[in-house]
Amino acid sequence: MPKPYLFLSAALLFALAVAPAPGKSPQETGAKGSAKAVSAATAKGKEIYNRDCSMCHGDNGNGQSDLAKDMQLTLKDWTDPKSLADMSDQQLFDMIRKGKDKMPPEDPGRAKDDEIRSIILYIRDFSKNPPAAPAATPTTASTSGSTR
Ligand code: HEC
Repeated sequence: MPKPYLFLSAALLFALAVAPAPGKSPQETGAKGSAKAVSAATAKGKEIYNRDCSMCHGDNGNGQSDLAKDMQLTLKDWTDPKSLADMSDQQLFDMIRKGKDKMPPEDPGRAKDDEIRSIILYIRDFSKNPPAAPAATPTTASTSGSTR
């Protein structure tokens, strides 16, 4: 009688040898298209965000900053994918450039148009790749269907 389990364990060994070990550096596993790595564009957005926006909207975009509390602002929690789902990039852009009520306009001298677009990428990322934060429970229920 042939021993199928011998073959199985050989196949398993092979699979283990080929599969990327979990915990390898992001470059090796990131090739699969999971946008974990911060692109250059988002990095610029992050820089400006941390300089001009995080004092109100919070480092992780959840809107729970000291300044927001002091100013009694009710800010959306951008770590919730639903919070910005109904706003187009253009609407976000106008909001950032022109401001609204207590939201100050971002001067072109502080962020050029393409830099604002980088900020928008960065903001939208809060619900996908929250920067190390005592994160709220990750939302697995996706209603947008954009992932597949
Ligand atoms: C002084 C506090 C403050 C700062 C600084 C600030 N915001 Fe806001 N932001 C607000 C408030 C308040 C609102 C809600 C305005 C409204 O709807 O009346 C808002 C709304 C927004 C919105 C619309 C979506 C939403 O969540 O309501 C975006 C996008 C936004 N801010 C981005 C930015 C960016 C990008 C920066 C930095 C360039 C920034 N904000 C800086 C207070 C601030």
